[in-house]
Amino acid sequence: MPYKIPEDIIEKIRKSNDIVEVVGEYVQLKKQGRNFFGLCPFHGEKTPSFSVTPEKQIFHCFGCGKGGNVITFLMEMEEYSFYEALVSLANRANVEIPEAIAQKRSSYSGKFADILSAHEWLTKLYHHLLKHTKDGKEGYQYIKERGIRDETIDTFQLGFAPNVKDFTLEFLTKKGFHKQDLVKAGLLSIQEDNSVSDRFRGRVIFPIRNHLGKTIAFAGRSMTDRDPKYLNSPENELFRKGKMLYNFDLAKRHIRQQNEAVLFEGYMDVISAWQAGVKNGIATMGTSLTAFQAKLLRRYVDTVILCYDADRSGQDATYNAAKLLRQAGCRVKVANLKDNLDPDSFIASYGAEAFKRDVIDASMTFIHFYMQYIKKDYNLSIQDDRLQFINNVVEQIALIDNPIEREHYLNELANEYNIRIEALVEQIESIRQKLGIHRDKREQNRYTNRAANFKVETKLRPAFHNAERELIAYMMQNSTIADKVQEEIGAAFNIDEHKIIVTYLYAYYEEDRPADVSAFIEWISEEHIRKLVTDIAMIPIFKDISQKQINDYIKTIKSHSNERTRIQSLKKQQKIAEQKNDPIKAAQIAMQIIDMQKQLNSSS
Ligand code: UTP
Ligand code: MN
Repeated sequence: MPYKIPEDIIEKIRKSNDIVEVVGEYVQLKKQGRNFFGLCPFHGEKTPSFSVTPEKQIFHCFGCGKGGNVITFLMEMEEYSFYEALVSLANRANVEIPEAIAQKRSSYSGKFADILSAHEWLTKLYHHLLKHTKDGKEGYQYIKERGIRDETIDTFQLGFAPNVKDFTLEFLTKKGFHKQDLVKAGLLSIQEDNSVSDRFRGRVIFPIRNHLGKTIAFAGRSMTDRDPKYLNSPENELFRKGKMLYNFDLAKRHIRQQNEAVLFEGYMDVISAWQAGVKNGIATMGTSLTAFQAKLLRRYVDTVILCYDADRSGQDATYNAAKLLRQAGCRVKVANLKDNLDPDSFIASYGAEAFKRDVIDASMTFIHFYMQYIKKDYNLSIQDDRLQFINNVVEQIALIDNPIEREHYLNELANEYNIRIEALVEQIESIRQKLGIHRDKREQNRYTNRAANFKVETKLRPAFHNAERELIAYMMQNSTIADKVQEEIGAAFNIDEHKIIVTYLYAYYEEDRPADVSAFIEWISEEHIRKLVTDIAMIPIFKDISQKQINDYIKTIKSHSNERTRIQSLKKQQKIAEQKNDPIKAAQIAMQIIDMQKQLNSSS
């Protein structure tokens, strides 16, 4: 940590960032009782076992066990250092931070600092050139001719790279950047004669921002359709095309608000749509959608509208993307683009209102798209073809989880092709059985499943183990109880991890801190202990627990530890008996030990 940050400031930053809001920027959360649930961003899953507790300001995943507070969440999610997470949270909540930290505010730490900073400088420079210089005029005119307004140019920080061999090179090396780093970042390229020169020359620049809004790559559009039409930065550690989505940082808020994302093929489609008022648009970067991106989207939305080009290859890409998105658990709709247009040219020809009304709002369901998509492979006036076509569609319908929706499509098919609905239903059932898709009940209960499992696990632990966990849960939420336990048994818990936790907890309270799990977590450096603390913190407890109940817990823990001590001394006696060649005595003791161990581990 470059600067020591005072604890009261850490506290303030933590308190002014609600964990539900911060996590909500990465995961779609739904309220269930006192907690919020969503899909865990740390491990792949289809049913939510990731929970956030507003009361305690912690998160915990019942699936992978990860847990922590708002700071450790950002550290895990963004691979931030503690310091980076704090600065980001301070900025987010407008908390004033000390001068020393504030000075570092706009720069970056970490190993990508230089690359990010070079991209930031260049974004500004290219943008300035486009807007305010004679050199950039041709780029500006090109963009304007394509119908992009000034305000949009600013939002997307569009720019222009002049057709000069060493413009970027000069600018950045003067700023102190190293040539080799710039080559690695893809901002410079190596020529045949081994000389280094600008990668982007005489092109309109589209900065590619990551989900935090930092430029990590550029795409340069040729103004003459010279090949390649778009020249992109090469992939590197920071820029992985398959792992990010263009415009995700700006679209995120709208995506969450509408619970819908619109996926485009091109940069210009996203920008034109944004300008037309469709702000939840994102795009891949000239590559097909990956499973990673599909899962990423699933964490934010239920529905994705695919808005690809209306040509043959666009339709193929639509089908492939839809498949991945459905596998990830998304509902897919397909925008209604016609006449072989791409979204950008549709908007240019028919305007924003028509685009929203006739293309986006008129999106069709995946099944309708699919019927239309495969229809051309069949001659539906031939019976054999017709049956195959229907079979094909039914297989897709079988994948839909909602039974009402399934029935709706089956009715449609039955009516249109004059088939008995019962026959179709039967076929669906047999497909679903073959695919091992369970009955729908399970789906509906997906949020409560975890809580149920949780109770089962509780029962499977021996009584003393549960007593320790429950007592710690109370101790973490009430310092008076912790004081009492400390007096009675100190750290003499039976489970090693529990010993560690209470030791931390006593130290925490000794500094006159209030009971606060989220603050307490910060004291714990071991990840596995932190996981356990959040796990224990999720145990439901009663507000007014009686002295007697606390005493019962303590008694259970103590007697278990007494038993353990007794077993240990018995084991010693057993050894001695063996050494003294007294097998009968040794066997008797062994029996005694087994009996005691049995009792010790019984859960009653
Ligand atoms: P398109 O060829 O459909 O371009 O490529 P576009 O989006 O319609 O662009 P304009 O309207 O002609 O300016 C779709 C996407 O494929 C990637 C880009 O991400 C582009 O937005 N692409 C295309 C490249 O990376 N390089 C290329 O040479 C062409
Ligand atoms: Mn286009």
